[in-house]
Amino acid sequence: MCGIIGFAGRVEAAPILLEGLSRMEYRGYDSAGIAVRSDNWGLQAKKAKGRLEALYGLTHGGADLDGPLGIGHTRWATHGEPNDCNAHPHISEDGRIALVHNGIIENYLEIKENLLRKGIRFTSDTDTEVVVQLLGYHYQQCGSMLEAVGRVLRRIEGSYAFGIICSDYPNALIAARKDSPLILGYGENGNFIASDVTAILKYTRDVSYMEDGEIAVVTAESVDVFDQELTPLDKKRCRVDWDVSAAEKGGYPHFMFKEILEQPEAVRKTVSPRVQNGRVALDGFSMTAEEVRNLSRIYIVACGSAYHVGVVCKYIWERLLRRPVEVCLASEFRYSAPLVDRNSLVIIISQSGETLDSMAALREAKRLGGRTLAVVNVVGSSIAREADSVIYTWAGPEIAVATTKAYSTQLVLMDLIGLYLGDLLGTVPGGEYEAILKGLAELPDKMRACLDQIQEMQYLGSRYFNHDSVFFIGRNLDYAMGLEASLKLKEISYIHSEAYASGELKHGTISLIEEGTLVVALGTHAALFDKAMSNVVEVKARGAEVLALTTERYRERMEKIADAAIVVPDTHPILQPSLGVIPLQLFAYYVALQRGCDIDKPRNLAKSVTVE
Ligand code: AGP
Repeated sequence: MCGIIGFAGRVEAAPILLEGLSRMEYRGYDSAGIAVRSDNWGLQAKKAKGRLEALYGLTHGGADLDGPLGIGHTRWATHGEPNDCNAHPHISEDGRIALVHNGIIENYLEIKENLLRKGIRFTSDTDTEVVVQLLGYHYQQCGSMLEAVGRVLRRIEGSYAFGIICSDYPNALIAARKDSPLILGYGENGNFIASDVTAILKYTRDVSYMEDGEIAVVTAESVDVFDQELTPLDKKRCRVDWDVSAAEKGGYPHFMFKEILEQPEAVRKTVSPRVQNGRVALDGFSMTAEEVRNLSRIYIVACGSAYHVGVVCKYIWERLLRRPVEVCLASEFRYSAPLVDRNSLVIIISQSGETLDSMAALREAKRLGGRTLAVVNVVGSSIAREADSVIYTWAGPEIAVATTKAYSTQLVLMDLIGLYLGDLLGTVPGGEYEAILKGLAELPDKMRACLDQIQEMQYLGSRYFNHDSVFFIGRNLDYAMGLEASLKLKEISYIHSEAYASGELKHGTISLIEEGTLVVALGTHAALFDKAMSNVVEVKARGAEVLALTTERYRERMEKIADAAIVVPDTHPILQPSLGVIPLQLFAYYVALQRGCDIDKPRNLAKSVTVE
């Protein structure tokens, strides 16, 4: 996700801003910029696509921008390709205001149309620029920056952390936050705002944490905080005792753990802007209703966890669209003479957007004349650029090699796309459209309920880490979810594991079940719960140790026969995998932790596999 730093001090701001941005590189970014207020030149802004080195070069290490007041930003693109123009800070049309932003403005399009009608011109494709132009408009109306900020915050919807400077205010910067983190730092030579402690630890360990709805006015001498009615607030100061490396993970022990915890918010950010007035609104999907209706076949092509999303989708989409959905491993797809033609839609799912197997499959699909859609997390990545259409997950940068939040946001985005296509085809079963959207809206809170079981998962990890072979068994959506659970365990704990359709066990593999074999029995798919139960009895009869996963609805029945049970909330059947996967991610995490494995950088693995 984006990184923000701001400084109001008694020394040159630019070098401090650049240093702070370099401390936030771990957050992942694709462009960066700084803006400084100078007595000689007013507002000076410099920004560049790519790594921070480009910005250092552009500003000669900051020497080109003079002044003790400024803001800086590393951008993780969500709206608009990574390029110089879309990089932050964004500048108001009159050149007087510079703004940096972390978050997603959900109603930016309607505000932009409104401002365009007022004759305001835009230079970027971002949601953020809409905020600075709206701020410039209100500032011209009321003449007070603080009042103008208040008006803007009441108008926009979504998540934000803002840093704002104005050429008319030589000593003060303004900050505001809702949902995206922002801290205040109290330094010797001036005061700070920052997305996280890492950016300013070099200068101060005395910080305050802004809460949603708060606005701060920061000068070299003072930090004043207000609520949205501009009532002054007292902020408690805290002493940060982290070392820098711990701070980079936001205080969490591993990026993977942090990213597991980020899933509810990542899912909300991916879904919420795409449901407007009770209807799915897909940005970036270019097929017409006619073309969709002419589709004879849909392929979902991916690798690893992204492939597992496709397996979940097949069960869901064939029910919603009543069309054949083929799920293919990207590394197999182009060697299997796929039946792709102009009436085929080939969907490539990829977190990185750089996986070579998936890119090769995309090119093969296009060569065969198919329509292509990319579902990608990294904006502007190769797969995103080469597909006919791209719809982004908004999980933010995922640092851990083992994917979690990207997988979860892919799942829900594919649920949305399936609803959208099914609605165009008129094949969504009655009442399901509304029921699924309701379930998606409730999902973040239910995911948080799953995360409340961290201690139980830690206990189960310590109870079961010594097994050298684990089976994940389930039926239908539970089986599909088991594929991902098994990969998570293998990837980071190096334990051999296998996901198996539990109805298939008796056709051979059950011969491997013996006294003490650990079987994780997945029973969250209500329609087949009784079958799942019979498979638990089957493996128990052969001595298996059964760790079961089920929902509240079946807790009592499952706890009677399993050796241990994990319980998640009930939700719409197609959304159950989005909940069940969370404790299974935590299970893999705690088993790996017990085994002393390198959780964020497992042996032999890379975050993006750019080789065949
Ligand atoms: C997932 O935990 C793995 N790191 C890996 O299987 C990954 O999902 C696969 O390499 C695909 O990567 P992509 O989504 O970036 O294309």
